Amino acid sequence: MIALGCDHGGYELMQEVIAHLDEKGIEYKNFGTYDTKSTDYPIYARKVVKSILSGESEKGILICGTGLGISITANRYKGIRAAVCHDCFSAEATRQHNDANILAMGGRVVGPGLALMIVDTFLNTPFSGDERHKRRISLIDTPEEE
Ligand code: RB5
Repeated sequence: MIALGCDHGGYELMQEVIAHLDEKGIEYKNFGTYDTKSTDYPIYARKVVKSILSGESEKGILICGTGLGISITANRYKGIRAAVCHDCFSAEATRQHNDANILAMGGRVVGPGLALMIVDTFLNTPFSGDERHKRRISLIDTPEEE
């Protein structure tokens, strides 16, 4: 299951993502927002985070105007690794190296053609499983004392 969340700045691009997931038969849960009325991105970041941390969803896609505020919110939660990606190289690398569990994008930054390629790359790229990447990921959640 893929958890979806966006604010008004990401609403239109999210409709493209939803149509794309429908076409591919990929299961998702849409946590809104459900229109272009101005709203607050942390609300939707938290809903998607909760869905992942509860085990309901494996990954999430968050879209706001820039991808920034919504990813900053999501990354406040231990176990969440939200990566803003506006190119396929980053989407592939963040899955392979960071085992990112949320893809964040900006609806005002990237067009739908590229965004859907980024979504496919993110969803189809496995974590490398490499020991050095596992060590680095575990250090994110257990930082050494200064
Ligand atoms: C909303 O205008 C905008 O600030 C929001 O979508 C996002 O870009 C914030 O980081």
